[in-house]
Amino acid sequence: MLLFKKCLLSALFLAFIQLFFVQAGNADNTKTYIGSKNCAPCHEEQYNSFIKHSKKAHSWNSVAIMKPKLKEHELQKCYECHTTGYNKGGFKSIETTPELADVGCETCHGPGSEHAEN
Ligand code: HEC
Ligand code: HEC
Ligand code: HEC
Repeated sequence: MLLFKKCLLSALFLAFIQLFFVQAGNADNTKTYIGSKNCAPCHEEQYNSFIKHSKKAHSWNSVAIMKPKLKEHELQKCYECHTTGYNKGGFKSIETTPELADVGCETCHGPGSEHAEN
C-alpha cells in the first residue's frame, strides 16, 4: 500500500513537471499582448460588456489599494492573478505596461497581436 502511494505520488509529480515544460515549450514568442482596449474596435460588444460587468476588468484596483503596504516581492505575487500575462511576456509593471494592469481579454484568449493584425 505504501509503495502504491509512493508510485502514485511520483507519477503525479512527473505529470506536473511534464505539463509545465510542455506549456513553456508551446509559448509562442511571435504573439504579444496588446491589451483589451485594442480588441475593442472590432469586438465592441464583448469589450463594453466585459468592462461594465466583470470585476476582473478592474482587478488592478485591488492591488493598487494595497500597494503602499506591500513589499515588492509580495506585490509580484498579486500580479499573477490580478494582471494580464505576467511572467508570460505580458504585464511587467504599472509604469511600463499599464494597458495590461487588469485581467483582460488576453488572459483567457491568449496574446492577441497576430489575430488583431490578421
Ligand atoms: C481588426 C479587427 C480585430 C481585432 C483588433 C481583434 N479581433 Fe478578434 N476577431 C475579429 C474577426 C473579424 C473575428 C471573426 C473571424 C473569425 O472567426 O476568425 C474575430 C474573432 C475573434 C474570436 C472568436 C474566434 C473563434 O474562433 O470563434 C475571439 C475569441 C477574438 N476574436 C478575440 C479577440 C481578442 C482577445 C482581441 C484583442 C486582443 C481581438 N480579438 C482583436 C477581428 C478582430
Ligand atoms: C491565486 C490568484 C490570486 C492572487 C495571487 C491574488 N489574488 Fe486577489 N483576488 C483573486 C481573485 C480570483 C479575486 C476575486 C474574488 C471574488 O471576487 O470572489 C481576488 C480579489 C481580491 C480583492 C478583493 C476585490 C473585491 O473588490 O472584492 C483584493 C483587495 C485583492 N484580491 C488583493 C490582492 C493582493 C493585494 C494580492 C497580492 C498580495 C492578491 N490579491 C493576490 C485572486 C488572486
Ligand atoms: C474569463 C475568460 C475570458 C475573458 C476575460 C474574455 N473572454 Fe471572450 N470568451 C471566453 C469564453 C470561454 C468564450 C466562449 C468560447 C466558446 O464558446 O467557444 C469567449 C468567447 C469570445 C468571442 C467569440 C464570440 C462570442 O461572443 O461567443 C469573442 C469575440 C470574445 N470572446 C472576445 C473577447 C474580448 C474582446 C474580451 C475582452 C474585452 C474577452 N473575450 C474576454 C472567455 C473569456
